[in-house]
Amino acid sequence: MLSSGPHFMRLAASGCLGSSRSIATIISGKEMSKLLRERLKKEVQKMTSEFSGFKPGLLVLQVGDRDDSNLYISTKLKAAAQIGIDAKHVRLPNTATQHEVLQSIMSVNENRSIHGLIVQLPLDSVNAIDTELIINAVSPEKDVDGLTCINAGKLSRGELNDCFLPCTPRGCMELIRHTGVTVAGSSAVVIGRSKIVGAPMHDLLLWNHATVTTCHSKTRDLPEQVSRADILVVGAGKAEMIRGEWLKEGAVVIDCGINHIPDPTKESGKRVVGDVHYASASQRAGFITPVPGGVGPMTVAMLMENTVQSTRRFLKHD
Ligand code: GUN
Repeated sequence: MLSSGPHFMRLAASGCLGSSRSIATIISGKEMSKLLRERLKKEVQKMTSEFSGFKPGLLVLQVGDRDDSNLYISTKLKAAAQIGIDAKHVRLPNTATQHEVLQSIMSVNENRSIHGLIVQLPLDSVNAIDTELIINAVSPEKDVDGLTCINAGKLSRGELNDCFLPCTPRGCMELIRHTGVTVAGSSAVVIGRSKIVGAPMHDLLLWNHATVTTCHSKTRDLPEQVSRADILVVGAGKAEMIRGEWLKEGAVVIDCGINHIPDPTKESGKRVVGDVHYASASQRAGFITPVPGGVGPMTVAMLMENTVQSTRRFLKHD
């Protein structure tokens, strides 16, 4: 957990003077992640000086050339470089076969200078590639995305100290802890059950002793479920689908969504919004993460944290 002071901002109350409605406190993932990356940089500097030039190694394997993946990868590589992690990017063409992708993973698994390996998702290939098979080919000891069956299984059984936690849920948990709201015994609602966000978030909240409900596309009365949440984590992939009116007053709202919607007032003609309708939600929530600047930067910081965690373990067992 982060030890530094709170990274909160009160939302401006303009137009709401005299109103009895609560105005949410913004939890800045951007600020929190900055401090976390500074701490990691110091730790890596110490490793490098103690072990004469040694650096943690991270490899990002990409198949194809999706624009969104390119952007995410460049953000990860930049963060790694700033911390002193030796990050490499290997891009296979979209014509790569499953066998070729597996071969690349095997060679990284055996490379002792690489401590973390992630396969950027989704795979962008013209060939039929089994994503599950690819993910599970990553050595669990280097699986800093926490997506292999081994790490996901450990998390689902509550072995939190013996696995890599997926980066987005781990970042969400840090943001929740930072509010000071007690997780144990709270009612937590997760929207979405993806392997990367919703399902591990459910497990992480559960083993932090919340009572967890996970909602999905077949959930009958979503507003009713949302209204029970002391803590709400949304990873639905639908722009602004969670309305402020549904929220319990004072809830902690963590928005994992990254959606582009048309906006003629912007030069690009679009803007980024989350899965939560921010304007209405911030009138009811106690705490809320912004998009951008909330979960996104924390996800990147947690990838760095997982890579350093993996490196620590390699050094201990060397
Ligand atoms: N694509 C979008 N988010 C992620 C992530 O956290 N990890 C990987 N490997 N791919 C992603």
